[in-house]
Amino acid sequence: MEGLNFIKNSTRFQFRKHYREGLRSHIFEVLETGDVLKETRGEIINDIRCYPRARPMRMLRILRTRFDSLNTVLKEIEKYNLLLKFLGPGLIARSDEFVVDYKEAGTSSIVLCGLQEYVEGEIIDPWNLSDKNPLSGLFMQMPSGASFGHDLIKRAGKNISVFVKLIRQMIADTGYIPDLAGFGNLIMTSNGEVKLVDINNIITIRFDATIRIDDKGYPSCDKSVEVLSILEQKILQRKISDNDPLYDFFLSPERKKKVKALEKAFYLSLR
Ligand SMILES: Nc1ncnc2c1ncn2[C@@H]1O[C@H](COP(=O)(O)OP(=O)(O)OP(=O)(O)O)[C@@H](O)[C@H]1O
Ligand SMILES: [Mg+2]
Repeated sequence: MEGLNFIKNSTRFQFRKHYREGLRSHIFEVLETGDVLKETRGEIINDIRCYPRARPMRMLRILRTRFDSLNTVLKEIEKYNLLLKFLGPGLIARSDEFVVDYKEAGTSSIVLCGLQEYVEGEIIDPWNLSDKNPLSGLFMQMPSGASFGHDLIKRAGKNISVFVKLIRQMIADTGYIPDLAGFGNLIMTSNGEVKLVDINNIITIRFDATIRIDDKGYPSCDKSVEVLSILEQKILQRKISDNDPLYDFFLSPERKKKVKALEKAFYLSLR
């Protein structure tokens, strides 16, 4: 990895840019050199040369944002700790957050990084769930494929249900919601665990008429509430009560129309 002078050279580990990337972070796989060699040179298994993909030991996340003071970056870490407190290590990709005083070409800036648990699985894409049985649809796309049973579906459903409950509790107690809407933020593992991997984008919820867009221009608060409702309705097959204050407020037809217009502007800005 070039250009990151705060990473100590190591012969044991290598860093490789992850094939998926978001708008806010650089994501690197932390790989064992031995695994990378097996991947590129191959290894003989039962007389056959195989090229197993190197599985990351951890993920290194470097936020693109440069912080203007230690105080602001510590606040960001506090929000991560809040998320961990509410969801617990089972439902998020746990991260050891650290701050770097990054010096480059005579200037210095504050950067937030995290060494994060690697989560292997299938992205839960709330906008593309199969209608009939969304969980079966997800497991069918996994390499383990067709061989899953009722128990696994049940376990995954239970985990989604706990996830929804704890997110709702976090909203009620803190006024924050994590970004659930970014592509790839939620992953389902092959043993039915649900993990939020994008842990640095925690948004303040405000019950007022203004629809807030984030620094990239996306209405992430409203869309995250919508994702929560999709998890409940489509995956857990729950009927949303008519007087649910959260959904009543954020998912009213008039508001959703405005959110849609903002979303359209966001996608146009990406072109
Ligand atoms: N710990 C992890 N394990 C597995 N995949 C990960 C992990 N962290 C991130 N990813 C994948 O990398 C991609 C980008 O990650 P992430 O959404 O966290 O980045 P971001 O730049 O902060 O996103 P955004 O654009 O939503 O702000 C996603 O597709 C996600 O699934
Ligand atoms: Mg993301």
